[in-house]
Amino acid sequence: GKYRVVSTKPMPGTRWINLLVDQGCRVEICHLKKTILSVEDIIELIGNKCDGVIGQLTEDWGETLFSALSKAGGKVFSNMAVGYNNVDVEAANKYGIAVGNTPGVLTETTAELAASLSLAAARRIVEADGFMRAGLYEGWLPHLFVGNLLKGQTVGVIGAGRIGSAYARMMVEGFKMNLIYFDLYQSTRLEKFVTAYGQFLKANGEQPVTWKRASSMEEVLREADLISLHPVLDKTTYHLVNKERLAMMKKEAILVNCSRGPVIDEVALVNHLRENPMFRVGLDVFEEEPFMKPGLADMKNAIVVPHIASASKWTREGMATLAALNVLGRIKGYPIWSDPNRVDPFLNENASPPN
Ligand code: GLV
Ligand code: GLV
Repeated sequence: GKYRVVSTKPMPGTRWINLLVDQGCRVEICHLKKTILSVEDIIELIGNKCDGVIGQLTEDWGETLFSALSKAGGKVFSNMAVGYNNVDVEAANKYGIAVGNTPGVLTETTAELAASLSLAAARRIVEADGFMRAGLYEGWLPHLFVGNLLKGQTVGVIGAGRIGSAYARMMVEGFKMNLIYFDLYQSTRLEKFVTAYGQFLKANGEQPVTWKRASSMEEVLREADLISLHPVLDKTTYHLVNKERLAMMKKEAILVNCSRGPVIDEVALVNHLRENPMFRVGLDVFEEEPFMKPGLADMKNAIVVPHIASASKWTREGMATLAALNVLGRIKGYPIWSDPNRVDPFLNENASPPN
């Protein structure tokens, strides 16, 4: 091949490889046994000639790697992820390297995991499963594993972009929850959806669902019974949910996080879980992956899964394909398929900017 493209991990499916190979790229996939590659490992992979790299969210794509990629003649890096808090886009741009991510294909899959964690927490599925396996079930009882009824309760969404909006629609339509959301951008499409669904329910003699765009994040924390976090991770959202904000939430609220771990102060969360046994949490992401803060794994009111929100076959193959298209596009001289520097097309189409 004319071009050398490196993938730091084997990725699902073959379509992404075929796309690159068909267009004259030689694809090199790293098969090192270690889960997380170091900067040194990646520098070695890049070598003396490398046109583009597909990398993972566990890797630190900063000054050092972009400088190495640039020296090897590289023009493009794509994360196989929608989030790109592991990428220093400014450093990349300094070396004339384009950065891509993989939005869109993981929207519904991620929202479905947030919904799964919401239901699992509300109905104490994991605790109940452990109880069965431990041989503790002695027969039906009126008070055994009583949880929360979501219908008629309020779902709070913090960050109503693609994933947050998809999750909101699932919870409103699927479980007839009222919606309160906080985002700098108004999501008129989401508001229209809830309004129309509310009218439909009313026409059928049912209690209509309602929506509210909160003027602050605190308003959501105070009012919602179930809260799901969907912001991007940056300086402004680091420890967005801290000790003070946890204290604002209802004692029996449920908190779900499928965004990025550092959005929650995890030490404060463990203390809050300990002090409020009726408060429950469903976590897909952690502050310092792969580790959990001390005590978290012992909390019965926490459900923890290992960053699997985008883990459906269709989505993972799609992410690999988009990452390959990002790299290929740039190598061939086209604008990158998905460039985080551009305004988010979802927001462009469906939202009004802040006043
Ligand atoms: C996964 O966490 C992603 O950002 O795609
Ligand atoms: C419970 O199993 C019921 O029948 O109410």
